[in-house]
Amino acid sequence: MEAKDTKFKRFTITSALPYANGPIHIGHLAGVYVPADIYARYLRMKGRDVLFIGGSDEHGVPITIKARKEGKTPQEIVDRYHEMIRDSFERFGISFDIYSRTSAKIHHETASEFFTTLYNKGVFVEKNNKQYYDAEAGQFLADRYITGTCPHCDFEKAYGDQCERCGTSLSPLDLINPHSALSGNKPELRETKHWYLPLDTAEDWLREWILEGHKDDWKVNVYGQVKSWIDQGLQPRAVTRDLDWGVQVPLPDAEGKVLYVWFDAPIGYISAAREWSEKTGKDWQPYWKSQDSKLVHFIGKDNIVFHCVIFPFMLQQEGSYILPDNVPANEFLNLENDKISTSRNWAVWLHEYLDELPGKEDVLRYVLTANAPETKDNDFTWRDFQARNNNELLAVFGNFVNRSLVLTHKYFDGKIPALENLNDNDEAVLAQMQAFPDKISHSIELYRFREALAELMNLARLGNRYLTENEPWKLFKSDPERVKTILAIALEITAHLAVLAEPFLPFTAEKLRNMMQIGRFNWEDAASQQLLQAGHQLGETALLFEKVEDSQIEQQVQKLLATKTANAAEEPKAVKPQKAAIQFDDFTKMDLRVGEILEAEVVPKTKKLMKLLVDTGIDKRTVVSGIAEYYQPENIIGQQVVMLVNLESRKIRGIESQGMIMMAENAEGKLCFVSPSEAFQNGAEVK
Ligand code: MF3
Ligand code: ZN
Repeated sequence: MEAKDTKFKRFTITSALPYANGPIHIGHLAGVYVPADIYARYLRMKGRDVLFIGGSDEHGVPITIKARKEGKTPQEIVDRYHEMIRDSFERFGISFDIYSRTSAKIHHETASEFFTTLYNKGVFVEKNNKQYYDAEAGQFLADRYITGTCPHCDFEKAYGDQCERCGTSLSPLDLINPHSALSGNKPELRETKHWYLPLDTAEDWLREWILEGHKDDWKVNVYGQVKSWIDQGLQPRAVTRDLDWGVQVPLPDAEGKVLYVWFDAPIGYISAAREWSEKTGKDWQPYWKSQDSKLVHFIGKDNIVFHCVIFPFMLQQEGSYILPDNVPANEFLNLENDKISTSRNWAVWLHEYLDELPGKEDVLRYVLTANAPETKDNDFTWRDFQARNNNELLAVFGNFVNRSLVLTHKYFDGKIPALENLNDNDEAVLAQMQAFPDKISHSIELYRFREALAELMNLARLGNRYLTENEPWKLFKSDPERVKTILAIALEITAHLAVLAEPFLPFTAEKLRNMMQIGRFNWEDAASQQLLQAGHQLGETALLFEKVEDSQIEQQVQKLLATKTANAAEEPKAVKPQKAAIQFDDFTKMDLRVGEILEAEVVPKTKKLMKLLVDTGIDKRTVVSGIAEYYQPENIIGQQVVMLVNLESRKIRGIESQGMIMMAENAEGKLCFVSPSEAFQNGAEVK
């Protein structure tokens, strides 16, 4: 991959619009927002013209399902999460130029216009097909609104798009015995019309544009996924849905139909630019329509096909927009060895992190970048978080900065000494320092953010090594002039760190600027030897990083353990497989009767057994039953039960047991009575 940013005048940077049906978690951050923010901040420091776009994705069926579950409107749901997401991004320092949302009027207009343009160009293919309809609810059913039996594994609660037990993707028509999630009724098939994007016609163009044109500059994981999609053969894709939440299809015969969420959401990037334009008075069009603008989409790997195939095809067909120059999609971040999941609450939520570990924004940014899932899935663990803070940020970066500043205060009242009387080693160290901006640039421009961050830390290591080798604290008495030079160099490295850390650790960079009483420099400044003036007065020194204590980590781990426990309790329980078939005669041999418990006592020296006197209607007899762990004797007097009365009697703990009480047993072995649903005659037959 070769960086070729010089040919661009402008950068349009988009970050996947998060669904407004849950908060932001570390997986989103590591995959999308932290790298996008590093990239945007870096380019701004290079003096480049940047438009960094974010916003909430507020349409789609899951949002309507959540609303239904909570008894709210979809708008109420997205309002809540949109604000929450926007605020947490802001607190975390994600430097969007605009954070918009797809329920905004400007987006509905933009998406509508886009659809209309394609429609007028005759791009879409219209198709009628049969789809499930819930007559009682009066609407067509989205795939997720239909449940039924999976044809592959017999799971009875499979969804119309996927079976969550065996993982197979399904279409609603595959389901055996389908039910509507709205009314519970069996849905009927009705004819409906939809508009399709003819992706099947895009193959040649995609092969040329991506497989040939971006062979060398797109990440291998992205390129590979696109290639396999194309090789499998692209199919036309419906871009409309029968749903009442979304952007209405702007056609006269399309009542009750909206644009498919994956059609409207990426257009949200354009709408956001327009909203930015309205707010700032600047023209949005060059960012989207000028060939000297570089469009980069930051996304997670589950979004690749939409950003590399479908949306580009839409843009190309529309005709007036630029195409992405790169789509540096990341793999996934796991949490403590388990897939992050909003529905299972298996996540570190950004808003909670910000509340629970205040002032540690940069620690999270650091850990997520150092551990970014750039080429493979990675794992976030709280132990690693602690180790990276204590052993890297604090011990390397913080320690170096602290030594330089504290020593300057101690020996020279915080006045920066002159950078002079350099020996060969000093010159060499300064030369090494000067090489860092380019090295870091190189990595960032290739979207290798972890490598870039590692280089930043190497600059801090260079500083640490320089101080350790020169030991100014030992020299001050005998050679204060030499100490001036040493500290001048250490302070230069510190100032360079303050500049180069900005894209990665913006809060730290600001703290450091305050401690040094220096302003913002741009990236090219850092390529020079000298940022500081002799005699400049440093500000007050404070600690850049605090130690993360075991107790803090323990708290977070406990919180996750609580989630694990809660999830385990909710997991569907194993049900025993059916026994071999029997004849009706086998069944009728059993004489089952309604009986009533007259007396009950726990069998002495046992935990489980209870001795019961039961009125069977035929007689009153004694049975021993293993229910003592689940019932108190005094609570079951008068309880009607079902009893097998013709079971041969047997002695249990010396007591003659004449029959057996029918009990239901769940997966955990807990027992409960099976009783008639109303008071019934004792002795009534059960058959
Ligand atoms: N909401 C989608 C997701 O979280 C991403 C949408 S990106 C956009 O997977 F292109 F649609 F904007
Ligand atoms: Zn299945």
